[in-house]
Amino acid sequence: MESLISLVNKLQRACTALGDHGEDSALPTLWDSLPSIAVVGGQSSGKSSVLESVVGKDFLPRGSGIVTRRPLVLQLHRLDEGREYAEFMHLPRKRFTDFAAVRKEIQDETDRETGRSKAISPVPIHLSVYSPHVVNLTLIDLPGLTKVAVEGQPESIVHDIENMVRAYIEKPNCVILAVSPANQDLATSDAIKISREVDPKGERTIGVLTKIDLMDKGTDAVDILEGKAYKLQFPWIGVVNRSQADINKNVDMVAARRKEREYFANSPEYKHLAHRMGSEHLAKVLSKHLEQVIKSRIPGIQSLISKTLNELETELNRLGKPIASDAGGKLYTIMEICRIFDGIYKEHLDGIRPGGEKI
Ligand code: GDP
Ligand code: NA
Ligand code: MG
Repeated sequence: MESLISLVNKLQRACTALGDHGEDSALPTLWDSLPSIAVVGGQSSGKSSVLESVVGKDFLPRGSGIVTRRPLVLQLHRLDEGREYAEFMHLPRKRFTDFAAVRKEIQDETDRETGRSKAISPVPIHLSVYSPHVVNLTLIDLPGLTKVAVEGQPESIVHDIENMVRAYIEKPNCVILAVSPANQDLATSDAIKISREVDPKGERTIGVLTKIDLMDKGTDAVDILEGKAYKLQFPWIGVVNRSQADINKNVDMVAARRKEREYFANSPEYKHLAHRMGSEHLAKVLSKHLEQVIKSRIPGIQSLISKTLNELETELNRLGKPIASDAGGKLYTIMEICRIFDGIYKEHLDGIRPGGEKI
């Protein structure tokens, strides 16, 4: 299974690397059919913090106000061994081993596209992290939903962000991580509002409740976490991320996770839920769910791959051999990946019925 998730990761990357090559090819459809996980919610609800703790690594710009101004497509690749590193698609030959430099590059690359304003851009930044400490996942960090434009932003920004977010989460293969802060009324949650719009039955929405530590004294989130306040198909997951003070003090991920575990284990009101709370649990749930989604989609992905392979072959013939051009080289790569996928799929074929059930 691991191998399939990792192949899907590679396919996703290959599809993006090809960019808008061949508008009429099957590639865009193939990309849409691959599963992804998008993080949505209001500004400063804790989206980037959640994503970081799922990854178990500090590398995202965080803070008050609109910090995330372009979508970040983050691919995690599990290494069996070796030192972890990161790579941006816009800097193909550069390996980052310093994750503070990764954060700086995300900020710089955001500014390059938008200028140093508070403007947003729908053009995604693609980042891959290779590490023995991650699970194979593709995650998308999105700009936060907002209700009003601030100084220097056009009025249209509220709808622009909403449309950008919707474009990602309306795809049926997108798992929605809907982030709501516990210190605000759930009825006003931007995450719930937009996810309900595209997934009314809550079948692919995972509700994440942040800032539980910041709730007013005498109130708690038990009703929400037990699914009594707002029901989703998946159980709600509560998390405690680092506060701004923790960030300023450079509290590291290991310490933050320990603090989070202790928080749930030692609170009388959450003790009984502790086993299904926290970022580490969330990472496991996501990985397991993604695996199921991929299994159930294999036959569909497979037929698209066959179609893509055919189209790519035609395209390669048209470009002529030997493959000298850049486009030819990339097409060749994706064909290779498709062929490997094809092979692995056929190995699995005996064990899988159409629809994905294991026999
Ligand atoms: P985003 O705008 O939704 O991506 O939110 P960020 O992850 O950038 O977080 C916004 C601010 O809220 C930062 O100062 C975080 O430190 C803080 N924050 C996020 N989650 C929590 C939490 O669970 N508890 C506390 N105390 N602060 C949090
Ligand atoms: Na923010
Ligand atoms: Mg953010």
